[in-house]
Amino acid sequence: TPDAHVPRDARLIRLTGVHPFNVEAPLTDLFNEGFLTSPELFYVRNHGAVPLVHDEDIPNWEFSVEGLVANPLTISLKELMSEYDNVTYPITLVCAGNRRKEQNVVRKTKGFSWGPAGVSTALFTGVVMADVIRRAKPLKKAKYVCMEGADKLPNGYYGTSVKLNWVMDPNRGIMLAHGMNDEMLRPDHGKPLRAVIPGQIGGRSVKWLKKLIVTAEPSDNWYHIYDNRVLPTMVDPDESAKNPAWWKDDRYAIYDLSPNSAIAFPAHDETLSIESALEKYNVQGYAYSGGGRRITRVEISIDKGKTWRLANIDYPEDKYREYENKELFGGRLDMDWREASFCWAFWNLEITLEELKTSDDILVRSMDESMCIQPRDMYWSVLGMMNNPWFRVAVHNEN
Ligand code: MTE
Repeated sequence: TPDAHVPRDARLIRLTGVHPFNVEAPLTDLFNEGFLTSPELFYVRNHGAVPLVHDEDIPNWEFSVEGLVANPLTISLKELMSEYDNVTYPITLVCAGNRRKEQNVVRKTKGFSWGPAGVSTALFTGVVMADVIRRAKPLKKAKYVCMEGADKLPNGYYGTSVKLNWVMDPNRGIMLAHGMNDEMLRPDHGKPLRAVIPGQIGGRSVKWLKKLIVTAEPSDNWYHIYDNRVLPTMVDPDESAKNPAWWKDDRYAIYDLSPNSAIAFPAHDETLSIESALEKYNVQGYAYSGGGRRITRVEISIDKGKTWRLANIDYPEDKYREYENKELFGGRLDMDWREASFCWAFWNLEITLEELKTSDDILVRSMDESMCIQPRDMYWSVLGMMNNPWFRVAVHNEN
């Protein structure tokens, strides 16, 4: 395959055959890695072949800043690393298709079947995108920043856009990253340079970045228009293909993530062995939301949603915020960065096996600080994105 040069971990589950490479880790393996996901198990979403970049060429990798700017720039990676402040932030990336499999079971969508592990967290190191854009001096009518990658696809280069005022907002942490968990980005994750847009769907974080184009309108890239949307639920696959108007309406484009969660333990196929009814099982999983909004509650039900109990939530990134702990990152984490949260949280709740024995399934739902809560019912849409109804695992008893 065209990706023969890319090293990959055998534990990853392939979701789209041999090529392009789209994978997630088994959820229990992902969860067991803890807050930071290793590059080996970090989910991968590639639309085509991974651009081949030789190590000796990395310092000379160039990207341009063009469009509605007074001072167009061409910047090499060497210059980016030496002439700009470099920061490190913990950020969770999530594919908009995370949990799509459940939608495909109800009714086939146009997308492949992600389980609940299309989500991963890393420490991204790079430059605040605003610092670069500022030097290019955007003109008054500038409203968007379009990004384009080096991967040539059937419909052109991969590209999308975000609003310029988001890029310039220091509280959004939008960055140009060259490092991931203290090493150079791996080929599958954008080596040597990618955009990282915290709190938004992964599809906006363009990999193998070659161009930033400042514009007055959102991106007209094919992948911006025909991907990463939640169209109204009545639009079916045939109709969506016939009627381009659905795709041009920017109200249906996804930016911020919404609250979502999954249960890692018990796993779908796990059998609970009951030695003593008083024994407790520690139900565990992850939750995340978007736009920097923190998950503020996680609730578990073992009676199909009639009653709910509050789970304990752990915010691992908090320890990175504390000044005392800055040596964790060699002091590189910018402590003025922000008050918000761009990371998943882990949650757990102990339930006695006696109670679990009487239950068919365990449900989880989460809420964020805007009181936005995961719905009971699925919102099916033709691309199967942003699937976030209550997550369910069946309970299997040994006897
Ligand atoms: N950037 C380029 N150039 N090409 C791509 O195919 N896929 C996007 C985004 N950036 C993509 C891209 C999508 S849909 C997602 S979810 C994320 O990259 C995945 O990032 P990861 O593979 O590092 O997890």
